[in-house]
Amino acid sequence: MRVRQNIVVFTGAGISAESGISTFRDKDGLWENYDAMRLASIDGFREDPEAVLEFYNERRWQLFDAKPNHAHYALSELEKQHDVTIITQNVDDLHERAGSSKVIHLHGELTKVTSSRDREDDRCIKYYPLNLPIYIGHKADDGSQLRPYIVWFGEELRYIEEARQLVESADIFVVIGTSLVVYPAAGLVGYARHDIPKFIVDPSDMEGKLPEGYLHIKAKAVEGIDILLEELKKL
Ligand code: OAD
Repeated sequence: MRVRQNIVVFTGAGISAESGISTFRDKDGLWENYDAMRLASIDGFREDPEAVLEFYNERRWQLFDAKPNHAHYALSELEKQHDVTIITQNVDDLHERAGSSKVIHLHGELTKVTSSRDREDDRCIKYYPLNLPIYIGHKADDGSQLRPYIVWFGEELRYIEEARQLVESADIFVVIGTSLVVYPAAGLVGYARHDIPKFIVDPSDMEGKLPEGYLHIKAKAVEGIDILLEELKKL
């Protein structure tokens, strides 16, 4: 495939699993051990902000020590030959650390904090060191309690419409490491044009989760990305 193509890649927790970041719904996944509605919902935050901050302080610590893996680096490398846009559900910054230049975070970013009065108040969204905990009493610039810049259950996704348009405009669409159960993000797989090559890299059985036309590379991200690159060469 010599011509420059517009490749859109939609990633989930699975791509960061081999970097040591826990997924949510696998065996040992976060939501197997923690209550998502208590720790990752806007109602949970209103009820017990301390528990939620503590949970995310742990996530931020875990990310501080993590490193991108071969799958993140290979996607960044792909920009040399193609226009690559990453749409990620992940709140880590491993795509950026690997060098990807166009990354859209549907579910927010652990590296940033914001206002608990208005999550999308751009004046309050700031980078905040991952190794500094956020405590009760830390204030955003509008005087409200500081919170991590994460989209919780019960909140709107600021970038979903932009993501849909990007998927609709893709020449090639790739999905990596997502269980496709959280909407509206999971619905993106239905927006890819029917006549383009579509791939999913995931070690699980994806039976019944995808519209027609996806080639399933049944492997973990680090191994699967090389199989994907071989498939792209054949186009
Ligand atoms: P899940 O934990 O639901 O799904 C992880 C997917 O990754 C599964 O399909 C696994 O089979 C696959 N997987 C596991 N190890 C892998 C590996 N090494 N390589 C490739 N794939 C692997 O995670 P998401 O689908 O990303 O929301 O979850 C969606 C959202 O639910 C998250 O963004 C998060 C969560 O609640 C928020 O934090 C707001």
